[in-house]
Amino acid sequence: MPNTKPRQRVPKPDVCQPTGTAELPMLDVYMPMMKSSAIVAAGRLGLFEALADGPISVVQLAEKIESSSKGTATLADFLIALGYLEKQGELLANTESTQRWFTSRGQVDYTPGLLWTHEAWPMMGGLAEAVRSGHPERTLWDAMVEHSHLGEIFSSYMAAFASDLGPDLLKHVPVTPAQHRLLDLGGSHGLHAIRFCRRYSQLSAVIVDLPSALSETGTTIARERLAERIHLRPGDLQEEDWGGEHDLVFYLSVAHNHSAEENRHIIERIGQTLSPGGLLVIHEYLTETPQDALDAAFRLTLLLETGTQTYGYEQYCDWLSAAGFQSVERIDLNPKEKGSLILARR
Ligand SMILES: C[S@@+](CC[C@H](N)C(=O)[O-])C[C@H]1O[C@@H](n2cnc3c(N)ncnc32)[C@H](O)[C@@H]1O
Repeated sequence: MPNTKPRQRVPKPDVCQPTGTAELPMLDVYMPMMKSSAIVAAGRLGLFEALADGPISVVQLAEKIESSSKGTATLADFLIALGYLEKQGELLANTESTQRWFTSRGQVDYTPGLLWTHEAWPMMGGLAEAVRSGHPERTLWDAMVEHSHLGEIFSSYMAAFASDLGPDLLKHVPVTPAQHRLLDLGGSHGLHAIRFCRRYSQLSAVIVDLPSALSETGTTIARERLAERIHLRPGDLQEEDWGGEHDLVFYLSVAHNHSAEENRHIIERIGQTLSPGGLLVIHEYLTETPQDALDAAFRLTLLLETGTQTYGYEQYCDWLSAAGFQSVERIDLNPKEKGSLILARR
């Protein structure tokens, strides 16, 4: 019999708290820096993947990741303290959570998120300046035009999120046999369009995204043998022709990259492109009052990276009603960090 019991989450140690009663404020700054650096370094070295097949000694691990024994042992000691690795006798092993989230053997491999964090780290050095001016010195999209590897890494990171979100989308988004044309605005890696075209054989799709986000998408689509059914339109979705009428429109994690005025306009245009009975699917991280810590952190990231923000559900309802959408449904995903879906019909 398969084990159907829900998996228990094992909380990791909070290494930022002092061990005694005295307050040590610098731990709030020093320990998160070291924690992020160590996990990111492990991702860049392929350390978690090197342990994916089972426990090995420090010397074997060092060899596998082409690193010094001293460096590997020092990094491993801290990763054990963080709850990312564990000792099994004399051998080192991934904890269950590390195996699940940071290796190809797990449910989702978020290693691209570690590689992205390595790129985002120096950008965070400009946070004080962005706060002073109220906007980024240059947007992430401009940086991607200048440094093409950034777009590729960001899209891989978004692909990891998308493989986590995909089953929720399939579960909550109804597609009828009469629906044929899917438009995926900001579709990036193409995984959502691929998943829906695989599931619904009548669908074909158009993906609109900035050229920097689409560098690998054509190859992925060809590998899935869907080049006949999924087409790319590289460009700014605000200016690009979306190509006729559509039955299903995805606007997934893209609204927070646009200003309120831009979203009002884009949602109005989506309303015009949808066929009668067509469905708009928005995925977003909705701002609540009071804000939670994750939303507040994300808004600070957006201030620095794109100069935009997250929005509340009421704001989406206003844009949708102004665009003539009659029926609007909100679905909060579980866990809540996965965000919410808004399904709207005209
Ligand atoms: C957070 S990612 C989400 C990617 C994908 N929809 C998903 O859910 O995994 C936002 C995407 O929107 C794209 N994007 C942002 N502004 C855009 C614009 N003005 N025109 C086209 N694409 C845009 C980015 O390039 C990126 O691929």
